[in-house]
Amino acid sequence: MSKKIIERFKQFVAPTYGRFPITLDRGEGSYVWDTDGKRYLDLGGGIAVNCLGHANAEIVQTLADQSAKLMHCTNFYHFEGQAQLAEGLTNRLAQGRVFFGNSGAEASEVILKLARRFGQEEGRFEIITAENSFHGRTIAGISASGQKKLKDGFAPLLQGFAHVPYNDIDAVRSAITPATVAVMIEGIQGEGGIHPASKEYLLGLRALCDEHNLLLLWDGVQCGHFRTGSFQSFQAILGDQIGGFMPDAVSMAKALGGGFPMSAVWISEKHADVLGPGTHGSTFGGNPLACAVANKILEVIDRDDLAANAKAIGQFFLDKLVRLREKYPTAIREVRGLGLMIGIEMGGGFGSFDNSKPASVQWVFALHESGLLTIPAGSSVVRFLPPLNLTQQEAQDGLDLFEQTIQKVIE
Ligand SMILES: Cc1ncc(COP(=O)(O)O)c(C=O)c1O
Repeated sequence: MSKKIIERFKQFVAPTYGRFPITLDRGEGSYVWDTDGKRYLDLGGGIAVNCLGHANAEIVQTLADQSAKLMHCTNFYHFEGQAQLAEGLTNRLAQGRVFFGNSGAEASEVILKLARRFGQEEGRFEIITAENSFHGRTIAGISASGQKKLKDGFAPLLQGFAHVPYNDIDAVRSAITPATVAVMIEGIQGEGGIHPASKEYLLGLRALCDEHNLLLLWDGVQCGHFRTGSFQSFQAILGDQIGGFMPDAVSMAKALGGGFPMSAVWISEKHADVLGPGTHGSTFGGNPLACAVANKILEVIDRDDLAANAKAIGQFFLDKLVRLREKYPTAIREVRGLGLMIGIEMGGGFGSFDNSKPASVQWVFALHESGLLTIPAGSSVVRFLPPLNLTQQEAQDGLDLFEQTIQKVIE
């Protein structure tokens, strides 16, 4: 069965992804099953998407109810679900307005257009982003991203981006020119290998942006939606030092729809009119199905206090992983993360590995054999981005499978 499906992919599906030889059939909670009946514990969460796990009964019911009522509604009209969601997201940040889209890359597009229009009259258009950053795969997204491999073969790219080392406020300061209009960053670099911003960096960025009248654009696509134990990662990173810190725009996607494609950008009230009528749009953005699901997810996260769970289970993982690093120093080089956004820097060059492939991919492959789904990043990082409702027992089961795999690989 799985072989046949993989053959059909090879023949009919565009070869843009390096796919693992797994064909999934169904999921339930934190587990998925492949077409041969093998069960996997899913600590990848669809790359930080399935925040309530798979086939969540309340989400299934919400989708069924909403699709029987109103599935699509053009943005020429109003409907309650979109207003409710915009209000719900705004209440978790500050007064502002929300634009809805369908993917993280589209959310990046919105904040980039916001910056361009904000600086238009003064002829300012340059946006500073971080080296190793990831902001999506559109032409604007790869232009903004600080990774060369994303850009290869797509010249000429969108002009007006400067990439500087992450967590280095002096580098940002030095990159500011009379044409600079914004700074765009991820609170925790995800695709770049789980690198959290420091408090000093965030506070420094806000001060620098205020001083030079720049927009501070926050990419919360991967690190947002309670993954860090707070709604947005700057709230988790800054904690009681948050003061009046607030970006000028915050992008969201992935866990916002828990598997239903959707994205949103919150824009501060001060800049709410920059993208006025006719400046941007999306046929499907903020459709009734997506909004119903996202509203239900917010309700469940609040009701079940999943932010606290993400924080507690994240700490449980980190503590145990640090101990595993001490036990297996050749396999685990470093452990980083915040809440349920965890990066494990792995060693490579083991005899059982096909060393023509990056260590990150080799490890993820070996973990599949043990029944554990994780996500590779860069050449050597394995990511855990599980559902926010993961239980401690499931986390422990995942750690046991992780340790068993290490023992097999390094023996
Ligand atoms: C920080 C960040 N921004 C933007 C994106 C793009 O999101 P999408 O794949 O939904 O377009 C991603 C996806 O991984 C991401 O991690």
